[in-house]
Amino acid sequence: MKFRSVTLLALASVVSAAKVSYNGAKAFRIPVGEDVTPLMDVIQKLDLPIWKGAPNGVPIANSHVDLVVPAKSVKEFQKMTSSMVTEVMHEDLGAAIDAEGTAPEFSIAAADLSWFNAYHAYADHLTFLNDLVALNSTRSEIVVAGNSNAGRPITGIHFWGASGKGVNPAIILHGTVHAREWITTMTTEYLAYYLLQNYGSSAEIKGFVDKYDFYIFPVVNPDGFVYTQTTNRLWRKNRQTVSTSTCVGRDVNRNWPYQWAVPGGASTNPCDETFKGLAAGDATENQVLVAYTNKVAAAQGLQLYIDVHSYSQLFMTPYGYSCTAVAPNSATLNTLARGVASAIRAVYGTTYTSGPICSTIYQATGSAVDYVNDVTKAKYTFTIELRDTGTNGFVLPASQILPTGVETYAGFRYLLLNMV
Ligand SMILES: *[C@@H]1O[C@H](CO)[C@@H](O)[C@H](O)[C@H]1NC(C)=O
Ligand SMILES: [Zn+2]
Repeated sequence: MKFRSVTLLALASVVSAAKVSYNGAKAFRIPVGEDVTPLMDVIQKLDLPIWKGAPNGVPIANSHVDLVVPAKSVKEFQKMTSSMVTEVMHEDLGAAIDAEGTAPEFSIAAADLSWFNAYHAYADHLTFLNDLVALNSTRSEIVVAGNSNAGRPITGIHFWGASGKGVNPAIILHGTVHAREWITTMTTEYLAYYLLQNYGSSAEIKGFVDKYDFYIFPVVNPDGFVYTQTTNRLWRKNRQTVSTSTCVGRDVNRNWPYQWAVPGGASTNPCDETFKGLAAGDATENQVLVAYTNKVAAAQGLQLYIDVHSYSQLFMTPYGYSCTAVAPNSATLNTLARGVASAIRAVYGTTYTSGPICSTIYQATGSAVDYVNDVTKAKYTFTIELRDTGTNGFVLPASQILPTGVETYAGFRYLLLNMV
């Protein structure tokens, strides 16, 4: 462990010259009225990175936009928005990212709750999964869905109960689809940790693990995640080059090969955060996830699929691609989703909103849940957006990792108890 963290530090100093600095950058929430053009002009003129509320660069009327203003643009931004209401989310984004931190090392002796007190480097996440398997080697294994675009194994933990592996209906969770959503890595790991650790002591949890086969992938976009740690904390997409552009990356949640071509729900500009790719399913990670998810579903049936994102505190159902099309199982899914939202709220009062993606946030094409619901035909399919609602956004303090895990488990438990 010691040796590895020294290597990591050395690596960090090699790449630090290229790391994007957010020192002096600010994050704002800006309410939007009926007329979205004044804010859209500011966003375009200053080329501001968007966090939420302006899918494909266009603000949603009567809502709000969360965005980042680089240090060099703060003065100009303040001038341009002097007649608008702006709320500061991060006064100094660089300082918030520094405070968020990543713990330098982890060892098997600490495969316990203290893991959830900090964010961690990618290599340490792989160690965590290995340690968890080492502690429960008769009921779990490491699985690799395939390799990322840069050749990193897309690694998950598979665990099962008394009937043995590969027998019961499967549950698949995907975390860190979007690279900067660090809380999703930690939360999916918490769910795996909690179910495995308490199998021996809780009859309820033994019941869950004996009933379903769990495949939990905390990081399905490892190239993007590593890039957030070496180069740009706020990167979202994968790191695959685009033949027609110098911009890099496809949005892994706009590239699933179903309803991909429907206009409006993604960007066709390779430089945008929501770039859909040049063709349906042309992102390496999507090819891997499609094949693996379908393989598991064909072999043992897919009971539940959850795509885990942040932020906004939402528990959502298909569809993303259309606000008028209604999924055949929509009523059942939305009844469960409402139950999940109240189960989460019951823990610490964290409020979640539930409903179909398109009408709850905005249209999103080529999304995971639409594919897994209609093509893979999972019985239950959801997208969760974890904490918070915009106080910290993607840069959520490490002190919120554990509470986010605990309340999300309550929502997950609701599904495990109520799915038929
Ligand atoms: C995993 O190991 C822990 C610690 O030994 C134990 O309490 C738990 O019951 C094990 N879980 C399974 C699924 O065997
Ligand atoms: Zn996301």
